[in-house]
Amino acid sequence: MLHKIHRVSALILGVFIVFHLINHLFILSSVQQHIDVMNLFRGVYRNIIVECVLLLCAMFQVSSGIYFVWNRRGQRKGFLEKAQAISGLYLAYFLLNHIGAVLFGRGVVGIDTNIYFGISGLHIRPFYVYFFPYYFLAVVALFVHLASAFNWLSRNKLSNIHRANLTFLIIAIGVSTSFIMILGFSGFFSDILIPPEYSEIYAISD
Ligand code: HEM
Repeated sequence: MLHKIHRVSALILGVFIVFHLINHLFILSSVQQHIDVMNLFRGVYRNIIVECVLLLCAMFQVSSGIYFVWNRRGQRKGFLEKAQAISGLYLAYFLLNHIGAVLFGRGVVGIDTNIYFGISGLHIRPFYVYFFPYYFLAVVALFVHLASAFNWLSRNKLSNIHRANLTFLIIAIGVSTSFIMILGFSGFFSDILIPPEYSEIYAISD
């Protein structure tokens, strides 16, 4: 039963994440395009009911996921079963931090949590040492988790060789998408100038 709810909640959250990542790919065009698309999508996910459902699903995924990992500790065999648990744990860590930061930015700092808020840490030394792997691994973990679920759900439907090929294709797409996105966020394709109100969040006082 809990596994079924975990899957339904993953589907709901997954719809948001697909649009969230499509939004992020607009960084390859320009920051302004990214902001315009986010403003468009916010019209849906910033609706009070939609956002409450989204945040509830995220919290449910985190807690049920941690419970699953704990419950089957020491019993996972093979690369994909272990990868599913590790990627799930990383996603739990990421979601708690990421959503916490966005809510803190909006509610406490009172700043527009647009893409400048998301990526300013990638442009400021020494914080990028943390934020590069933090974001890169988030998207990779997402695809690894998806690939493990696909591998399990298709076990009676596809031949082993097809399943293995498709599973590793999903992971390869995740790694390349994540890498390209991080390059875009870092200003590799076009210059990104972080406005002072965002870089000041990272100012270290003596
Ligand atoms: C790859 C780098 C990522 C960056 C730079 C990023 C950036 C952002 C930003 C700026 C927001 C605030 C949106 C707003 O104010 O409207 C946000 C919200 C959010 N992000 Fe991400 N994100 C990234 C990846 C992810 C991933 C991989 C996930 C899921 C696994 C995720 C889940 C969420 C969620 C659930 C919210 C909260 C939406 C809300 O209720 O307002 N993000 N992200």
